[in-house]
Amino acid sequence: MAYIRKVIAPEEIRRQEAICASIAARLREQGARPLAMVDTYGCQQNEADSEKLRGYLAEMGYGFTNDEFAADVIVVNTCAVREHAEMRVLGNVGALNHTKKARPSQIIAVCGCMVQQEHMAEKIKKSYPIVDLVFGPHELWRFPELLETVMEKGKRVFAADKNDGAVAEGIPLRRDGKVKAWLSIMYGCNNFCTYCIVPYVRGRERSRLPEDVVAEARELVAAGYKDITLLGQNVNSYGKDLDCGVDFADLIRMIDAIPGEFLIRFMTSHPRDATDKLFETMANCRKCAHHLHLPVQSGSDRILKLMNRHYDRARYLAEIEKARALMPDLVITTDIIVGFPGETEEDFAETLSLCEEVRFDAMFTFIYSPRVGTPAAKMDDPYTRADKQKHFDALTELANRISGEKHAAYEGRTLRVLVDGETGREEYNLSSRTNGGRLVHLHGDPALIGHFADVKIVSSNTWALYGEIV
Ligand code: SAH
Ligand code: SF4
Ligand code: F3S
Repeated sequence: MAYIRKVIAPEEIRRQEAICASIAARLREQGARPLAMVDTYGCQQNEADSEKLRGYLAEMGYGFTNDEFAADVIVVNTCAVREHAEMRVLGNVGALNHTKKARPSQIIAVCGCMVQQEHMAEKIKKSYPIVDLVFGPHELWRFPELLETVMEKGKRVFAADKNDGAVAEGIPLRRDGKVKAWLSIMYGCNNFCTYCIVPYVRGRERSRLPEDVVAEARELVAAGYKDITLLGQNVNSYGKDLDCGVDFADLIRMIDAIPGEFLIRFMTSHPRDATDKLFETMANCRKCAHHLHLPVQSGSDRILKLMNRHYDRARYLAEIEKARALMPDLVITTDIIVGFPGETEEDFAETLSLCEEVRFDAMFTFIYSPRVGTPAAKMDDPYTRADKQKHFDALTELANRISGEKHAAYEGRTLRVLVDGETGREEYNLSSRTNGGRLVHLHGDPALIGHFADVKIVSSNTWALYGEIV
């Protein structure tokens, strides 16, 4: 499966920006004050992509709104990871019938992972005539050109052909926050876990050049961002396609060397490629947060094999032990799938016991959802949805109990947190995160947002800690 890393030429991006400028000029001539809405589903990668969509839209002269009736352009950036995500998208796109009726000139675009699947692009073409533009993740870099075609020709545009993907540098970005920032370091996935749609819709693994990543990190630090999350479906395989001698741990070290007070986070790590070097780098780099999101998916070796995860329970536990030995304060979170095809009581009991053994700080749990075209969707599955729900509930209960216990152990301790926003509530008006990423509610001056503060933890529950500034 040879993949030649494809790069979109910088002139191509400049051409897209020239299209943005000409759209902006035209809208200005019309005296319009156009508004756009970008609605995002799915993971942080999609959040990061939406920041690019907003970057382009801002260059076209659009302001932003959350009111779908006020928007001249609506972009729905979709997720395909589970059926539930797709159902929500389809329901919400269907509801745009009303907004389009009220504002017939409204342009509706649907992009992202869901429409990169042929059957979904077809479904939208046939059953959602209000949608003017459909484009997959690989076409995002040429969103201005696609939108211009819709505007000028007044016809529907579909751009979601099969594609391995490329790397495009220089797309303008409009970031959502001022304190925390996403920084994509790579795109795509080569792992083909048997349940997962991501490799089919996001293309092959491809890394950004280390100098491009570091330059963006420098810009973020200079702009005052204090919490930078490096993004990739499997950050541990960063650089493998580049052959430039820089692996993920080296990249962390390079970013850690940027002067300034900030935190480096990353997600997601695949246990197959988590190395001792990575854990040592985390432990040694002062700015690297002691948080590891290491999705285990299952505690049963039989199921892990069927999932094509390339590690077993013993190896996973050994990695956790190693990481904790180097970082006793390490916060560990995970993802778990319940009800993979054929998962028995015994398999599930293995998952429960693994969770008891590791004691994750937080767990993201999902009921298996068959995805069209993946190997697992063709596997025999004698168990009912009700069986799976029972297991899911048991796992959630365990996860909540452990999170609650872990949180209670913080009470009375004083920790350094990064204040990142307002909650809208009176008593605990500020939110913040510990180095390990746990949520801490505080009372204090909103001027603290974007600053580190020492807080004493006074109470806690399953989901959060509550603290007082000291
Ligand atoms: N690249 C990341 C995860 C991306 S998807 C990784 O490998 O860890 C996020 C999570 O969704 C996965 O970790 C998995 O737990 C869950 N997931 C993926 N496909 C799923 C499916 N078909 N059904 C249920 N959960 C799924
Ligand atoms: Fe999906 Fe596995 Fe790739 Fe994660 S590593 S995106 S779960 S195929
Ligand atoms: Fe969903 Fe695509 Fe992310 S399928 S989880 S938005 S990579």
